[in-house]
Amino acid sequence: MKITVIHGQSHRGSSYHITQQIFDKISNTNKEIYEYFMPNDTPSFCVGCYQCIMKSESACPQAEKVQNIVASMEASDLIVINSPTYCLEMTGQLKTFFDHLGYMWLSHRPKPVMFQKIGIAISTAAGGGSKKVAKSIAKQLFWMGVPKVYRLNKNIKGSTWQTISNKMKESIDKETTKLSRKVEANIGIVRPGLGLRFLFTIMRSMQKSNNWNEVDKNYWKENGWLDKKRPW
Ligand SMILES: Cc1cc2nc3c(=O)[nH]c(=O)nc-3n(C[C@H](O)[C@H](O)[C@H](O)COP(=O)(O)O)c2cc1C
Repeated sequence: MKITVIHGQSHRGSSYHITQQIFDKISNTNKEIYEYFMPNDTPSFCVGCYQCIMKSESACPQAEKVQNIVASMEASDLIVINSPTYCLEMTGQLKTFFDHLGYMWLSHRPKPVMFQKIGIAISTAAGGGSKKVAKSIAKQLFWMGVPKVYRLNKNIKGSTWQTISNKMKESIDKETTKLSRKVEANIGIVRPGLGLRFLFTIMRSMQKSNNWNEVDKNYWKENGWLDKKRPW
């Protein structure tokens, strides 16, 4: 099983350890993990040049770093993204990375392989906000066409992994076990649900009348999505 993991921070705290637990509990013995830490492995801010959307993703001034991670995501069965909650949001580093992936949203040029993957969105907070952050990460993957995104959020009632209570650690242990079993049961067999299909249909009709971005429109045409073909 190939897994891409993107850590929305560079330290190995609670979000990191929860992610690690999930990997350890996935019983597949042939795990190949591509791991990225923010901000060292990821691009700097999007400069808003529109090159990725209007021309090509390879025209982004930071294409090398972005496409390195995108290639891992494309090759993986499972994409795991975590972030601590900072001021009720995901980390700025992680949002910066997501900004670079707008070109592969359903509204532009979604990648067919993304419609077969499972995602996991993880966030921890001291007191509150992790639910919203996990939801936000899941939303990003959904807009890339990922049909099944599990969420795991935990308000850990502490600031570091070392100071978490035993009770909280037990609860985390239970949740990571449950989640890893769900992933194992569904890997390779997920299909888009009604919400994703519906959104695809709306985007398809938008592309039919798209007269502002030929690159996007041609992409939809070449994939046959303006006719009967679908990416799933
Ligand atoms: C800059 C900053 C902002 C934070 N904002 C919040 C917050 O809005 N809500 C909250 O409950 N905890 C907040 N925290 C605490 C962290 O979310 C919490 O300690 C988290 O579990 C850290 O995860 P990590 O160990 O993976 O870094 C904040 C911490 C930092 C450093």
